[in-house]
Amino acid sequence: MTRISLIKPDDWHLHLRSGEALKSIVGMSARQMGRAIIMPNLSSPVKSVRQAQAYRKEIMKALPTNSGFNPLMVLYLTDGTTPKEIESAGATPEIYAAKLYPAGVTTNSDDGVTNVTNIYPALEAMQKEEIPLLVHGEVTDPEVDVFDRESVFIEKVLDRVVKDFPGLKIVLEHITTKDAVDYVLRCKDNIAATITPHHLLANRNHMLVGGIKPHYYCLPVLKRHNPDQKALLKAAISGNPKFFLGTDSAPHDREKKESACGCAGIFSAHAAIELYAEVFDGEGSIERLEGFASIFGPDFYGLPHNREKITLEKSPWRVPDHYEFAGSKLTPFFAGAELSWKLLS
Ligand code: NCD
Ligand code: ZN
Repeated sequence: MTRISLIKPDDWHLHLRSGEALKSIVGMSARQMGRAIIMPNLSSPVKSVRQAQAYRKEIMKALPTNSGFNPLMVLYLTDGTTPKEIESAGATPEIYAAKLYPAGVTTNSDDGVTNVTNIYPALEAMQKEEIPLLVHGEVTDPEVDVFDRESVFIEKVLDRVVKDFPGLKIVLEHITTKDAVDYVLRCKDNIAATITPHHLLANRNHMLVGGIKPHYYCLPVLKRHNPDQKALLKAAISGNPKFFLGTDSAPHDREKKESACGCAGIFSAHAAIELYAEVFDGEGSIERLEGFASIFGPDFYGLPHNREKITLEKSPWRVPDHYEFAGSKLTPFFAGAELSWKLLS
């Protein structure tokens, strides 16, 4: 097959940043995606309905004209998030979810949740308001090895939340382990997961063999090829609607990544759907791409499928070595490498 058409996809986990950074990258997602769930971890996090509305306005202003792109806003949960704020979010059509960052787990998560029981009143309100909970599923306990943090989180934290809030929709985001795949499969239909292109296309060898490659560093950190990456591939192409597209595209200055303390995040918005096409085609399952990219996400959120279509053509192209990024440079995923599928504009 050399050409395929799909319903326009959506990105169910995206970092757009703000200010000049936002302006330099938002067009890339708008070209590929109909909608995106916008992560609230700005340097000043999006903790209130008012902040979410102001951030959405900023995004709309930064978009290319007539892009049709719809940013779906998310509230950042803290120890102090009140049920009242959640009720107000429930009455705000632009807000689609609330996000649990364990405090200190990743970029701009210092204001996150120190103990999940602190947000139980907020979770109760979310269950009532039918607002999905998005989860960065890692513990921060220094005694837990960084490669085990997702598995320990599922066992010690997530499972309890799932049992205590049986009616709450939960997305375990950017899953990286076989443990996470197995857990989501064991749960009822209110528990789903997103999978990134980088966790499907890479494993920790890409980051650590032949020198440390900071552009492969993200959180949760890349895991083993076997069994983890293999389990993610199997889940993504399975056609099971619990698994859907979420790039976790997270832009950072090249200098900030190529540093003695390089920050976490991989940028993939420039070629999101092409990267996933590479995965599905590589597994001989390109016909399953549309479900994963364009159908299962909206179905989980109870939203309509996009009406527009996109076309992908098998025609190799080289990913640029860098993009301009707020007066600096950004190294994209697959920089300088070839991709076989191309999105026709
Ligand atoms: C994200 C970022 O840079 O904001 N980084 C990452 O490695 N994924 C934060 C996150 O989603 O953990
Ligand atoms: Zn993220």
